[in-house]
Amino acid sequence: MEILLAKTIPDVRQAVQSARRRGQTVGFVPTMGALHEGHASLIRAARRETGFVVVSIFVNPTQFGPNEDFTRYPRPFEQDLALCRAEHVDLVFNPEVDTIYPTGFHTAIDVPSLSENWEGAFRPGHFRGVATVVLKLFNIVAPDFAYFGQKDAQQVRVIQQMVRDLNVPTDVRVCPTVREADGLALSSRNRYLSAEQRHQAVVLFRALEEARALIEYGDRSAVSIQNLLANRIQAGAGVTLDYAAVVDADTLQSQDPLRGMLLLAVAARFGSTRLIDNIEVQIR
Ligand code: PAF
Repeated sequence: MEILLAKTIPDVRQAVQSARRRGQTVGFVPTMGALHEGHASLIRAARRETGFVVVSIFVNPTQFGPNEDFTRYPRPFEQDLALCRAEHVDLVFNPEVDTIYPTGFHTAIDVPSLSENWEGAFRPGHFRGVATVVLKLFNIVAPDFAYFGQKDAQQVRVIQQMVRDLNVPTDVRVCPTVREADGLALSSRNRYLSAEQRHQAVVLFRALEEARALIEYGDRSAVSIQNLLANRIQAGAGVTLDYAAVVDADTLQSQDPLRGMLLLAVAARFGSTRLIDNIEVQIR
């Protein structure tokens, strides 16, 4: 079937309602475009599990800080559409900013505590922008299932909490991070990296894997794991560390000694490009 393109909210609602009348369940992959294999893996999960797959492509201004990359964020719309076609997406929703934020728009969704540390501390207001736009998109698309990447682990926890607290009737599915052969997590921002920075950026995954090995070897000290992560990353060439966190994967709170399911999360800058990565480690 030919892919449907919607720019307006009534067009999305009409297409989704028609799918429901045909007895199809609705899967939704919210994106900011610049799609890559990571997004394709989310779309494939939606394709496997649901009958009607919707992808939104919307670079959401409210989740960018004043000095962040909103204006230069890549917008290769035709390539994104080609990927959606190749992955048999049913509907692409590509609204204008004033469709999502019309004049007079006022409301914001805050998920305190989960939003405050790590990414939230380095990007004030970021998760408010994410939670607000995701709830709006959920209200527009009304999906049964929505698909997010583990790469944005804190975003996932914020959205899961919002969905639970506000009784949103959407099941949040979390898909594994997709990596390059050397371990670098796929990200739309990787395309900003020079060849040298691209080479340097693998330090994030290597540090995370070394930390995993140390935990699996029996180290239960959050401070020692955090120091290892920070030292390994800071020893890399051309990198500025923002944070290295070792936290409970559910609450995102620090704990010492380590136990249960852990999230090891890092963020660092390579020139003007900021990358994040994480792994989960289960202590048995
Ligand atoms: O992960 C993203 O691409 C964005 O944060 C999202 C979920 C599409 C909201 O703008």
